[in-house]
Amino acid sequence: MRQKIVAGNWKMNKTYQEGIDLAIEIDKLVAEKGNKNVTVVVSPPFTHIAEVNKVVNNDRISVAGQNCATETSGAYTGEISAEMLWSAGADYVILGHSERRSYYGETNELLKAKIRKALEFNLTPIYCVGEVLEEREANKHFDVIKEQLETVLFDLDKEDFEKVVIAYEPVWAIGTGKTASAAQAQEIHKFIRDLLAKKFGGLAQNTSILYGGSCKPSNAKELFANPDVDGGLIGGAALTAEDFLGIINGF
Ligand code: PGA
Repeated sequence: MRQKIVAGNWKMNKTYQEGIDLAIEIDKLVAEKGNKNVTVVVSPPFTHIAEVNKVVNNDRISVAGQNCATETSGAYTGEISAEMLWSAGADYVILGHSERRSYYGETNELLKAKIRKALEFNLTPIYCVGEVLEEREANKHFDVIKEQLETVLFDLDKEDFEKVVIAYEPVWAIGTGKTASAAQAQEIHKFIRDLLAKKFGGLAQNTSILYGGSCKPSNAKELFANPDVDGGLIGGAALTAEDFLGIINGF
Protein backbone atom coordinates (compact mmCIF):
# COMPACT_ATOMS: atom_id res chain seq x y z
CA MET A 1 0.00 0.00 0.00
CA ARG A 2 1.33 3.39 -0.89
CA GLN A 3 1.48 6.12 1.70
CA LYS A 4 -1.17 8.82 1.90
CA ILE A 5 0.58 12.13 2.49
CA VAL A 6 -0.63 15.65 3.16
CA ALA A 7 2.24 18.13 3.11
CA GLY A 8 1.93 21.81 3.95
CA ASN A 9 4.19 24.16 2.01
CA TRP A 10 4.41 27.37 4.04
CA LYS A 11 6.47 29.13 1.36
CA MET A 12 7.88 32.49 2.60
CA ASN A 13 5.22 33.02 5.23
CA LYS A 14 5.21 33.28 9.03
CA THR A 15 7.77 34.94 11.26
CA TYR A 16 9.70 32.65 13.56
CA GLN A 17 7.27 32.81 16.48
CA GLU A 18 4.20 32.65 14.23
CA GLY A 19 5.63 29.54 12.61
CA ILE A 20 6.32 27.82 15.92
CA ASP A 21 2.81 28.68 17.13
CA LEU A 22 1.28 27.28 13.94
CA ALA A 23 3.29 24.07 14.26
CA ILE A 24 2.13 23.63 17.87
CA GLU A 25 -1.49 24.19 16.85
CA ILE A 26 -1.26 21.75 13.95
CA ASP A 27 0.37 19.14 16.17
CA LYS A 28 -2.41 19.50 18.74
CA LEU A 29 -5.23 19.24 16.20
CA VAL A 30 -3.63 16.30 14.42
CA ALA A 31 -3.20 14.51 17.74
CA GLU A 32 -6.82 15.11 18.72
CA LYS A 33 -8.67 14.74 15.45
CA GLY A 34 -6.31 13.86 12.60
CA ASN A 35 -6.77 10.84 10.36
CA LYS A 36 -4.09 8.46 11.61
CA ASN A 37 -3.66 6.84 8.20
CA VAL A 38 -2.21 10.02 6.74
CA THR A 39 1.45 11.00 6.89
CA VAL A 40 1.50 14.68 7.78
CA VAL A 41 4.40 16.87 6.69
CA VAL A 42 4.98 20.58 7.33
CA SER A 43 7.46 22.62 5.37
CA PRO A 44 8.35 25.84 7.18
CA PRO A 45 11.03 28.32 6.13
CA PHE A 46 14.60 27.14 6.82
CA THR A 47 14.98 29.34 9.90
CA HIS A 48 12.11 27.55 11.64
CA ILE A 49 12.88 23.93 10.83
CA ALA A 50 14.89 22.85 13.87
CA GLU A 51 12.46 24.36 16.38
CA VAL A 52 9.36 23.17 14.51
CA ASN A 53 10.85 19.72 14.58
CA LYS A 54 11.19 19.96 18.35
CA VAL A 55 7.68 21.22 19.07
CA VAL A 56 5.84 18.57 17.03
CA ASN A 57 5.60 14.90 17.84
CA ASN A 58 7.66 13.21 15.14
CA ASP A 59 5.47 10.13 15.18
CA ARG A 60 2.67 12.37 13.94
CA ILE A 61 4.34 15.06 11.91
CA SER A 62 7.45 15.18 9.75
CA VAL A 63 9.30 18.28 8.66
CA ALA A 64 10.43 19.23 5.17
CA GLY A 65 12.71 21.84 3.64
CA GLN A 66 11.40 23.85 0.69
CA ASN A 67 14.63 23.58 -1.31
CA CYS A 68 18.22 22.38 -0.98
CA ALA A 69 21.56 22.99 -2.65
CA THR A 70 23.07 20.97 -5.49
CA GLU A 71 26.40 20.79 -3.62
CA THR A 72 27.31 19.04 -0.39
CA SER A 73 29.04 21.94 1.38
CA GLY A 74 31.50 24.76 0.79
CA ALA A 75 31.64 28.30 -0.56
CA TYR A 76 28.04 28.69 -1.75
CA THR A 77 26.81 31.80 0.02
CA GLY A 78 23.14 31.71 0.86
CA GLU A 79 22.64 28.03 0.11
CA ILE A 80 21.33 25.35 2.48
CA SER A 81 22.57 21.81 2.00
CA ALA A 82 20.61 18.59 2.16
CA GLU A 83 22.81 17.48 5.03
CA MET A 84 22.00 20.68 6.98
CA LEU A 85 18.29 20.02 6.56
CA TRP A 86 18.72 16.47 7.70
CA SER A 87 20.80 17.56 10.70
CA ALA A 88 18.07 20.07 11.69
CA GLY A 89 15.51 17.26 11.74
CA ALA A 90 13.97 17.38 8.26
CA ASP A 91 12.92 14.10 6.65
CA TYR A 92 11.65 15.54 3.38
CA VAL A 93 12.54 18.28 0.92
CA ILE A 94 10.30 19.87 -1.70
CA LEU A 95 12.15 20.18 -5.00
CA GLY A 96 11.14 21.61 -8.34
CA HIS A 97 8.26 23.71 -7.08
CA SER A 98 6.98 25.84 -9.95
CA GLU A 99 7.91 29.02 -8.04
CA ARG A 100 11.52 27.80 -7.92
CA ARG A 101 11.38 26.90 -11.60
CA SER A 102 9.87 30.19 -12.74
CA TYR A 103 11.32 32.81 -10.35
CA TYR A 104 14.73 31.26 -9.76
CA GLY A 105 15.32 29.57 -13.10
CA GLU A 106 15.57 26.03 -11.76
CA THR A 107 15.88 23.64 -14.68
CA ASN A 108 15.29 19.92 -14.91
CA GLU A 109 19.08 19.43 -15.05
CA LEU A 110 19.61 21.36 -11.82
CA LEU A 111 16.76 19.52 -10.13
CA LYS A 112 18.28 16.23 -11.10
CA ALA A 113 21.38 17.19 -9.09
CA LYS A 114 19.29 18.37 -6.13
CA ILE A 115 17.26 15.16 -6.02
CA ARG A 116 20.44 13.13 -5.92
CA LYS A 117 21.86 15.26 -3.10
CA ALA A 118 18.64 14.91 -1.11
CA LEU A 119 18.71 11.14 -1.50
CA GLU A 120 22.37 10.98 -0.56
CA PHE A 121 21.54 12.62 2.77
CA ASN A 122 18.47 10.56 3.56
CA LEU A 123 15.84 13.13 2.66
CA THR A 124 12.72 12.08 0.81
CA PRO A 125 12.33 14.39 -2.18
CA ILE A 126 8.83 15.67 -2.94
CA TYR A 127 9.43 16.34 -6.61
CA CYS A 128 6.97 18.81 -8.17
CA VAL A 129 5.90 18.68 -11.78
CA GLY A 130 3.17 20.52 -13.65
CA GLU A 131 2.30 22.62 -16.65
CA VAL A 132 1.60 26.33 -17.01
CA LEU A 133 -1.69 27.52 -18.46
CA GLU A 134 -0.37 28.12 -21.99
CA GLU A 135 1.00 24.58 -22.10
CA ARG A 136 -2.36 23.14 -21.08
CA GLU A 137 -4.21 25.30 -23.58
CA ALA A 138 -1.83 24.15 -26.31
CA ASN A 139 -2.43 20.55 -25.20
CA LYS A 140 1.25 20.17 -24.34
CA HIS A 141 0.78 19.29 -20.68
CA PHE A 142 1.48 15.59 -21.10
CA ASP A 143 4.75 16.32 -22.93
CA VAL A 144 5.89 18.85 -20.33
CA ILE A 145 5.25 16.50 -17.43
CA LYS A 146 6.85 13.60 -19.27
CA GLU A 147 10.01 15.61 -19.78
CA GLN A 148 10.06 16.80 -16.15
CA LEU A 149 9.85 13.17 -15.00
CA GLU A 150 12.11 11.52 -17.55
CA THR A 151 15.00 13.95 -17.38
CA VAL A 152 15.03 14.17 -13.60
CA LEU A 153 14.08 10.70 -12.36
CA PHE A 154 14.63 8.11 -15.04
CA ASP A 155 18.27 7.37 -14.37
CA LEU A 156 17.74 6.77 -10.65
CA ASP A 157 18.33 3.23 -9.55
CA LYS A 158 15.30 1.39 -8.25
CA GLU A 159 16.32 1.74 -4.62
CA ASP A 160 16.45 5.54 -4.89
CA PHE A 161 13.34 5.80 -7.05
CA GLU A 162 11.33 4.04 -4.35
CA LYS A 163 12.04 6.92 -1.96
CA VAL A 164 10.72 9.68 -4.21
CA VAL A 165 7.31 11.31 -3.75
CA ILE A 166 5.81 13.17 -6.72
CA ALA A 167 3.55 16.23 -6.54
CA TYR A 168 1.51 17.17 -9.59
CA GLU A 169 0.80 20.87 -9.39
CA PRO A 170 -0.82 22.51 -12.41
CA VAL A 171 0.75 25.97 -12.22
CA TRP A 172 -2.53 27.62 -13.22
CA ALA A 173 -4.10 26.23 -10.05
CA ILE A 174 -1.43 27.37 -7.57
CA GLY A 175 -2.62 30.18 -5.35
CA THR A 176 -5.29 31.13 -7.88
CA GLY A 177 -8.31 29.54 -6.25
CA LYS A 178 -8.80 27.51 -9.45
CA THR A 179 -8.49 23.83 -8.68
CA ALA A 180 -8.05 21.11 -11.24
CA SER A 181 -11.24 19.07 -11.34
CA ALA A 182 -11.08 15.65 -9.74
CA ALA A 183 -11.18 14.15 -13.25
CA GLN A 184 -8.34 16.36 -14.50
CA ALA A 185 -6.23 15.43 -11.49
CA GLN A 186 -6.90 11.71 -11.91
CA GLU A 187 -6.10 11.86 -15.62
CA ILE A 188 -2.66 13.33 -14.98
CA HIS A 189 -1.91 11.22 -11.91
CA LYS A 190 -2.67 8.08 -13.89
CA PHE A 191 -0.55 9.34 -16.76
CA ILE A 192 2.33 9.90 -14.32
CA ARG A 193 1.97 6.46 -12.74
CA ASP A 194 1.79 4.73 -16.12
CA LEU A 195 4.88 6.57 -17.29
CA LEU A 196 6.78 5.65 -14.12
CA ALA A 197 5.63 2.04 -14.50
CA LYS A 198 7.13 1.87 -18.00
CA LYS A 199 10.50 2.61 -16.48
CA PHE A 200 10.31 1.22 -12.94
CA GLY A 201 7.68 -1.50 -13.33
CA GLY A 202 5.59 -2.46 -10.31
CA LEU A 203 7.43 -0.01 -8.06
CA ALA A 204 5.29 2.78 -9.52
CA GLN A 205 2.32 1.28 -7.67
CA ASN A 206 4.05 2.27 -4.42
CA THR A 207 4.86 5.85 -5.45
CA SER A 208 2.81 8.48 -3.64
CA ILE A 209 1.59 11.09 -6.13
CA LEU A 210 0.22 14.21 -4.46
CA TYR A 211 -2.02 16.87 -5.97
CA GLY A 212 -1.26 20.55 -5.38
CA GLY A 213 -3.01 23.75 -6.42
CA SER A 214 -5.77 25.47 -4.43
CA CYS A 215 -6.55 22.32 -2.46
CA LYS A 216 -8.87 23.18 0.45
CA PRO A 217 -11.04 21.33 2.96
CA SER A 218 -14.02 21.76 0.61
CA ASN A 219 -12.42 20.00 -2.37
CA ALA A 220 -9.90 17.64 -0.73
CA LYS A 221 -12.35 14.76 -0.35
CA GLU A 222 -13.27 14.72 -4.00
CA LEU A 223 -9.65 14.99 -5.12
CA PHE A 224 -8.40 12.33 -2.70
CA ALA A 225 -11.17 9.93 -3.71
CA ASN A 226 -9.36 9.36 -7.02
CA PRO A 227 -7.48 6.07 -7.19
CA ASP A 228 -4.18 7.68 -8.22
CA VAL A 229 -4.30 10.75 -5.95
CA ASP A 230 -2.39 9.85 -2.82
CA GLY A 231 -2.60 13.15 -0.99
CA GLY A 232 -1.85 16.82 -1.38
CA LEU A 233 0.81 19.49 -1.36
CA ILE A 234 -0.92 22.43 0.24
CA GLY A 235 0.05 26.09 0.10
CA GLY A 236 -2.40 28.73 1.34
CA ALA A 237 -4.64 26.36 3.27
CA ALA A 238 -1.65 24.96 5.17
CA LEU A 239 -1.20 28.29 6.95
CA THR A 240 -4.32 27.77 9.06
CA ALA A 241 -4.29 24.76 11.37
CA GLU A 242 -8.05 24.12 11.04
CA ASP A 243 -7.96 24.18 7.24
CA PHE A 244 -4.90 21.98 7.12
CA LEU A 245 -6.63 19.49 9.43
CA GLY A 246 -9.71 19.61 7.20
CA ILE A 247 -7.57 18.60 4.24
CA ILE A 248 -5.81 15.82 6.21
CA ASN A 249 -9.26 14.52 7.07
CA GLY A 250 -10.27 14.65 3.40
CA PHE A 251 -9.20 11.00 3.38
P1 PGA B 1 -1.79 26.62 -3.05
O1 PGA B 1 -0.25 26.25 -3.30
O2 PGA B 1 -2.38 25.49 -2.25
O3 PGA B 1 -1.76 27.92 -2.31
O4 PGA B 1 -2.42 26.74 -4.40
C1 PGA B 1 0.13 24.93 -3.57
C2 PGA B 1 1.63 24.88 -3.75
O5 PGA B 1 2.19 25.82 -4.31
O6 PGA B 1 2.28 23.91 -3.33
